[in-house]
Amino acid sequence: MSQPTNTNQNAAQAADILPIGGEGARVRRPAPRTIAVSAGVRKDRAFRAVMPPLYLSATFAYEEVGQKPAFDYTRTNNPTRATLAEAIAGLEGGAGAVVVSSGMAAVDLVLHLLSADDLVVAPHDCYGGTRRLLNARARRGDLYVEFVDFTDEAAFDAVLSKGPKLVLAETPSNPLLRITDLESVAAKARRAGALVAVDNTFLSPALQRPLELGADIVIHSTTKYLNGHSDVVGGAVVAKDPKCVEELAWWANCIGSTASPFDSWLSLRGLRTLHLRVAAQQENAALVAAALVAHDAVERVYYPGLETHPGHEIAARQQNGFGAILSFELKGGYDAAKRFLDSLDLFSIAASVGGVESLACQPWSVTHAGIPEQERREAGISEGLIRLSLGVEDPEDILDDIARALAAAEKRAAA
Ligand SMILES: Cc1ncc(COP(=O)(O)O)c(C=O)c1O
Repeated sequence: MSQPTNTNQNAAQAADILPIGGEGARVRRPAPRTIAVSAGVRKDRAFRAVMPPLYLSATFAYEEVGQKPAFDYTRTNNPTRATLAEAIAGLEGGAGAVVVSSGMAAVDLVLHLLSADDLVVAPHDCYGGTRRLLNARARRGDLYVEFVDFTDEAAFDAVLSKGPKLVLAETPSNPLLRITDLESVAAKARRAGALVAVDNTFLSPALQRPLELGADIVIHSTTKYLNGHSDVVGGAVVAKDPKCVEELAWWANCIGSTASPFDSWLSLRGLRTLHLRVAAQQENAALVAAALVAHDAVERVYYPGLETHPGHEIAARQQNGFGAILSFELKGGYDAAKRFLDSLDLFSIAASVGGVESLACQPWSVTHAGIPEQERREAGISEGLIRLSLGVEDPEDILDDIARALAAAEKRAAA
């Protein structure tokens, strides 16, 4: 493989970007909320713009032949994208980040670290798109893959004995919010000589920092909480080791999966309020979970914040909050679920999570439709399962909408 030549970090240094807070700022490491708000602020030397400008330019001029500028071509590097990368890396506590065009591009970028004989271990209930990608790459002979229940210690230990190169964790899982003990999984995987990557999309660094728990790499679909406004599809990979950042950046440039400046700028704008949004969202989720648990029409609620959730204790230990996604089943299965979903007014019935607006979906027919029926059932996904992503709307409006939809589901069930 050719040597990596480019990193966001190098470019930022070469461009003489000022430290967060501008020249002469205090040296103490800023708190996460401050990192999100301050990234790129007061770094514009041309006009002293407070907020970082959007650099759409595809190319950047050389001052003279042979003097390569810090940023020369936007596929390779771009000041707007580098600012977003710096912010995400800062929030995750990594050496650097590579910002790409989707969450799937982020997962695929990590797979570029592997060779054809390498084994990847992934959770049996990982995101459907990740499973499809791993299976497709395995079919082409790019890698080997094994899916295993990460909460089943014996099964996990057995697969580690096969010497995987990459262990790809995802917690909480989608849609049943199963919790993986990251510290334990990362320690075992490391002992087995594997790199550990964690898809942190469902919580964001506001609620979980996998690198501190022993992971080497963090993956994000920035489409979700990091951007948080459901108006950009994007992804990012953060690595602990600067050499790994370099290799990822080299591949992102090579295959051309880097994010556009405009998407990066929008995502940076969204990221500013990450901690405020997530705090309001998870407050709403806790209220909805309690309302669902108390309602007669509801069979089961999956939310790590509930003490009855099997992963509650681990989540309380490794997360800074229980998140804003929950799933539940209604008595009456699919028919009741359909009546519930069709009766919602404030919630949109849509795929995705993490935006400021509340969303509801039936994972069976939407996010997990591509998984064979038998495998969906084995993973505990039924036709009657409903997943909610809580937004930042007023809690009373959210609870009213839920109550109305539950009544509709119940009434017609009784009729
Ligand atoms: C956990 C997880 N990882 C990755 C992805 C892929 O992200 P994107 O849709 O931005 O490609 C998703 C999308 O829903 C996801 O939920």
